Amino acid sequence: MNPAQSTARRKPATPPPPVSVFPFNSGSLLSVSDLTLEGVGRVLTRATELEQMSPLRRGSILAKRRLALLFYESSTRTRTSFELAAKALGADTTLVSSLSSSIEKGESLKDTGLTLRALGAEGIILRHPSSGAAWLLEASTRLPVINAGDGMHEHPTQALLDLRTLVMHLRPGLREVNDQTLAGVTVSIVGDVLHSRVARSNMLLLPRLGARVLLCGPKELLPDMATSSGPGIEIERDFETALRASTAVMMLRIQAERLAGLKLDLNDYKGKYQLTGQLLATHAPKALVLHPGPIIRGMEITAGVADGPQSMILEQVMHGVAIRMAVVERALTSAGRPAAQEPKKGDLA
Ligand code: CP
Repeated sequence: MNPAQSTARRKPATPPPPVSVFPFNSGSLLSVSDLTLEGVGRVLTRATELEQMSPLRRGSILAKRRLALLFYESSTRTRTSFELAAKALGADTTLVSSLSSSIEKGESLKDTGLTLRALGAEGIILRHPSSGAAWLLEASTRLPVINAGDGMHEHPTQALLDLRTLVMHLRPGLREVNDQTLAGVTVSIVGDVLHSRVARSNMLLLPRLGARVLLCGPKELLPDMATSSGPGIEIERDFETALRASTAVMMLRIQAERLAGLKLDLNDYKGKYQLTGQLLATHAPKALVLHPGPIIRGMEITAGVADGPQSMILEQVMHGVAIRMAVVERALTSAGRPAAQEPKKGDLA
């Protein structure tokens, strides 16, 4: 055999596994997958420590540090709780919204981020209608970036506060998070899964702690391919069956702003997927009812359920402040790469 033949028969070398360059800055939280299970545990523990700390001590942790909130989409809960969380730690915050800034004049996300950095922002909290926007901003600025919701993609702090809500009720006194923490727990996520970044982040997080996630909704809002989303995730189209299996049920709003021509018969939808008091009493009398908000009373959930004893909706909102304190502290105190480091040629920018 000549050397050429031997080379031709040699098995090709196995390519190395893909290595993500993200996040560039170890303070960033772009995806809930940026956190190891240990990291998730640290956020939960730190949220409680910060919540219980005296306001004076807490307020010195990030005294005079500068954080920009860059919001290209409307928000009540996320924006307010990030602002309250940062201020509780002593940080100075500034809000830049797409409607009252030079974004309206056409300034790009990259240039807006670089401008905020030049103005002294040490971290940016971003909400944006485009999936992946937080990654682009981080690559452009190298600042710690916290993803406060990017399009239909992810909303990591919402998943963390949802987890805190579940743990407080189902595993009170929990000391350590591991892959069995939510063993035996079934969380049904119901409604507009297709457009929901909250669903996506919860689907990435909850199965890692041992939970089973049931996705429930019509094909228009929950295509069959969602079954390939990962282990621990299943589709159950029948709402009553999903309810009977649920330790917790997470209702989702139909995101009318992202339907883009998709026609839905809303009366039919309500008949099949609206959470009513009667359905809850019959099929899931002990289940926790979650909703990331905003809720549309009379559409995906009745007023009676939203205000009822099983509703965790306002508790979720409260957990948002504690979780975001921990995430903001992590962003600004993490030993990330230097914020002023310029992107190198070939980096995504
Ligand atoms: N849950 C959530 O993201 O709510 P907001 O859009 O009000 O921030």
